[in-house]
Amino acid sequence: MENKHEFDQLEELLDAPTVDALLSWYRESKRDLPWRRTRDPYCVWLSEIMLQQTRVEAVKPYYARFLAAAPDVISLAELDETRLLKLWEGLGYYSRARNLHRAATAVVEKHGGVMPDTYEGLRALPGVGDYTAGAIASIAYDLRVPAVDGNVLRVLSRLCASRADITEEKTKQAFRAALWGVIPAAAGDFTQALIELGATLCGPNTDARCECCPLSKKCLGYRERIQNELPVKKAKKPRRIEERTVFLIRDSSRTLLSRRPSRGLLAGLYELPNTKGHLEGEEAVRFVRALGAEPLQIERIEDSKHVFTHVEWHMIAYRVTVSADFDGVKESDTLFLSENETLKSTYAIPSAFGAYTKYL
Ligand code: ADE
Repeated sequence: MENKHEFDQLEELLDAPTVDALLSWYRESKRDLPWRRTRDPYCVWLSEIMLQQTRVEAVKPYYARFLAAAPDVISLAELDETRLLKLWEGLGYYSRARNLHRAATAVVEKHGGVMPDTYEGLRALPGVGDYTAGAIASIAYDLRVPAVDGNVLRVLSRLCASRADITEEKTKQAFRAALWGVIPAAAGDFTQALIELGATLCGPNTDARCECCPLSKKCLGYRERIQNELPVKKAKKPRRIEERTVFLIRDSSRTLLSRRPSRGLLAGLYELPNTKGHLEGEEAVRFVRALGAEPLQIERIEDSKHVFTHVEWHMIAYRVTVSADFDGVKESDTLFLSENETLKSTYAIPSAFGAYTKYL
């Protein structure tokens, strides 16, 4: 254990009057967010999954659209995968969507279509980890369980002036363990208050606004004036750079699309055919011919770059016109021609191809 003592202080630092101050601050200052207008466990679950690694403002329109298409867990279980991915298009981290779908199926098959109402029941669903199970259990049911995400880790690290590395699992578990004893009956508001503080006054990337903070009287980080040095996160490994060549291959009315493999990066999503490396001139023409098509015209279009968590794609691209009798793709499981009119409304093409989807 890093320094057991610093986590143990949390119980004293979050004593009853301080927790009351935190709850009052939250109730007066909270942002009015769509998922805060309900305690329906399905909606809380959906919002928490969408909010992982994604900004509140980006989530709002997706949350509304998703709920319009799948208003409850049974309708989510019934969505077909192409439609589901289309609803998630642009939000990133698509395994979240697939896990939601698998979990909805499990809720229908094992729980009669009713969301579990215990921490353990929630935790057993695909894609639901300690944080998400704690967030749903506390927000939807006021169960007194901790929910420690990046926002909460920042607040708690500052509150007890902890220099423990928050990217380490043992640090998260130590904070979770320390929180059990301080969660009030209004567990949902407590969870959301810590999250709200960590997203606003005690947020990332800007100096903490300690003068307005309901915890400032107790905060050891503030007392020592080290709040902006915390939390400590070990440096990430540099991302691998991958060169790729993207092909926008069309005849007069159709575009060639490819479905990615069901495992790995962007699993199961649709994409413009592309390959590793930067293909120049003849190499690019050969690539198109290998797909069974004769390019009538081929022109280089803009370069673009997309940053994933562990890899960066540095892309060059070609726009290729092929004749309408192009049918080489009939042989393939993954390549197919999509009618341009229905392409955009049917298939989820990840933002990595954002520079090129504007040509579609
Ligand atoms: N981030 C994670 N959960 C959240 C919530 N319930 N409200 C706002 N931001 C969040």
